[in-house]
Amino acid sequence: MSIVNNAKVPSPEEIQRDVREFLKDKYGDKIHVPPEPNAMGNEPDNTSGSGTTPPVIHFDLKPTELESYLQQYVVGQDDAIEVLATKICTHFNRMKLENSPGGISELVGNIKSNILMIGPTGVGKTFIIKLIAKKVGVPFVKGDATKFSETGYVGGDVEDLVRNLVHEANGDIKLAEYGIIYLDEIDKIASSGSHFGPDVSRSGVQRNLLKLMEEAEVDLKTPHDLAAQMEAAMEAQRTGKVKRKKINTKNILFVTSGAFFQLADIIRKRCNQQPLGFKNPAQAELENDYVDVLKKVRSEDLINFGFESEFVGRLPVVVTLNDLDVNGLYEILRSPNSTVILGKKRDFQSYGIKINFKDDALYRIAELAFQEHTGARGLVSVVDRLLLKFEKTLPDTDINEFTVTRAVIENPAAELKALITDFYVKKFQKRFLATNGIVITFTEPAKQLLQKKAEKSGRNFADICNDLFKDYEYGLRLLSTEEFTVDEETVLDPKTRLEGLIKKSYVKGE
Ligand SMILES: Nc1ncnc2c1ncn2[C@@H]1O[C@H](COP(=O)(O)OP(=O)(O)OP(=O)(O)O)[C@@H](O)[C@H]1O
Ligand SMILES: [Mg+2]
Repeated sequence: MSIVNNAKVPSPEEIQRDVREFLKDKYGDKIHVPPEPNAMGNEPDNTSGSGTTPPVIHFDLKPTELESYLQQYVVGQDDAIEVLATKICTHFNRMKLENSPGGISELVGNIKSNILMIGPTGVGKTFIIKLIAKKVGVPFVKGDATKFSETGYVGGDVEDLVRNLVHEANGDIKLAEYGIIYLDEIDKIASSGSHFGPDVSRSGVQRNLLKLMEEAEVDLKTPHDLAAQMEAAMEAQRTGKVKRKKINTKNILFVTSGAFFQLADIIRKRCNQQPLGFKNPAQAELENDYVDVLKKVRSEDLINFGFESEFVGRLPVVVTLNDLDVNGLYEILRSPNSTVILGKKRDFQSYGIKINFKDDALYRIAELAFQEHTGARGLVSVVDRLLLKFEKTLPDTDINEFTVTRAVIENPAAELKALITDFYVKKFQKRFLATNGIVITFTEPAKQLLQKKAEKSGRNFADICNDLFKDYEYGLRLLSTEEFTVDEETVLDPKTRLEGLIKKSYVKGE
């Protein structure tokens, strides 16, 4: 006997989609869910991207174009930008030449322009590469070298980065094969030093990377990628064929980066200079000539640092980034593209508040950020810290615009208080003038007294005045006065003061 089920029998595609959605819902990002067949028109089930098919990127940038694009955003790294823009442009143009139909054949044993970026934290290493990937229009993934071990760990090994490129390319393997893989903290996989784990594992990671950096075929399916395995099984059932999806790494550009603190000592030694000795990285970074020394780096220094020579050999482009000084940080803040300032403006805009920054305030922010020794990262933390109370309190007020001056930077709490008081003083004055035709001013002590009252009662200055000086609206009109100054006495006993004034005017009038 068979059970008749009225529900429509799903197609293999529907089953795959349901499985994919189910796994994603249940496990989120813990399980890699392969993308849908890509939207870019390339068949993702090619065996490998190498071959004679036309390139998927339409690259026609020249080095100077990429250089000037980067200069719009990046401050104080002209030397590094020059090298990176040139080498990366040439890399993509070479690929275009060699991979286009009828293009010239590749040179055997060619070494592509993989890059090593050396420089302290927050000076633009990741920023520059992200800008380049965006401009070139290729997928980009970022990984952290400290996350890898020789055998890989559950859920991640170096090959995962290659697979992630396909993910970033919406499943377009061909496009992924022109992607950029960015590996941060590469200095931590050098085999000497006391960074982490046993040496053997670190050189193992280097060797795994070596293969990828030159040319390797990476299987898109991993044993721990459950969804992909199920998809493959279903596909095999449907078509009777087992297709292997692979991605070739020959054209993928690898960019590595790190701070390389101890490298400065190695270079000093080679140049017969006094080493820094056992200083911690923060101290070493404080040394002015730290970056200058790093600029003299040679392959032999990197090998002494603990890299396999084959590894160094596959990173032919080495650039050292400058540390950012106060002026550099100031320039970043003043740049119309500065995400620090634009970001903060947007934070306040989300509460309907417009903020402006005075130039001298920006300079002071740059000085404070410089003291943090975290490059441009310090700018964000300084601005956040200084404006936190404004960000917390202003949404409770009617204030919809304010200017960050140098005084705000020096004493944010007092300036916030003054800003709020001033706003509500003006609000009261404006309303009083509009309804009664009388200009109200406050003496400083009166203002302070009223401010204290406002703070105590949790109400604003204008509301306190509206209550306290209710009778003054009619009373002052009676006196046909055009202006009135609120002093301490008025605040302490408004009623008696008004009565006194009225009495006096009667006496005068008799
Ligand atoms: N030279 C620069 N010019 C303009 N903005 C910069 C510069 N350097 C850093 N920034 C800003 O600071 C942010 C952080 O910089 P980035 O991520 O590039 O640091 P990094 O050099 O990669 O540091 P880390 O070693 O900590 O990863 C960038 O997103 C960018 O907004
Ligand atoms: Mg970075």
